[in-house]
Amino acid sequence: MATLLIVHHTPSPNCQALFEAVLSGATAPEIEGVRVERRAALAATASDVLAADAYLLGTPANLGYMSGALKHFFDQVYYPCLDATRGRPFGYYVHGGNDVTGAVRGIETVTTGLGWRRAAEPVTVTGEPGKADVTACWELGATVAAGLME
Ligand SMILES: Cc1cc2nc3c(=O)[nH]c(=O)nc-3n(C[C@H](O)[C@H](O)[C@H](O)COP(=O)(O)O)c2cc1C
Repeated sequence: MATLLIVHHTPSPNCQALFEAVLSGATAPEIEGVRVERRAALAATASDVLAADAYLLGTPANLGYMSGALKHFFDQVYYPCLDATRGRPFGYYVHGGNDVTGAVRGIETVTTGLGWRRAAEPVTVTGEPGKADVTACWELGATVAAGLME
């Protein structure tokens, strides 16, 4: 069975709302044959990444970049996963207060380095998530998970 790994840093209720929407989309009943694993970014390992077939990443924007937790994740897994995960699909969401540009740029840079293939448009949200934001996150989760269906 294909595995989708969600790696997220979720330090607040607004981030939690987006994470739950992504998880709900990824585990929608219509999606069959896909196992969804989730890991806090500070707990995710290279073994988790190697064992998965696609990735969903979630982070707040902090100090003009992705969170330190997601940065730490990439620092840990980059070289151990570089060869084996090239070409694998991924998607991501970023929550911020007012400007997520640097976080988006950072994620694009590191995933380009890894050779991962973006399988859905990124979702960026500032402030309290509205209905459209939650729906966009649900669709992000569903899209990346559906891509793993045989
Ligand atoms: C130290 C710190 C730095 C932050 N830097 C940014 C930033 O550069 N850009 C931004 O859009 N939001 C920034 N924020 C806001 C966080 O992204 C936001 O608090 C987080 O997404 C959680 O959302 P919430 O506080 O609305 O629950 C920062 C927050 C903190 C605590």
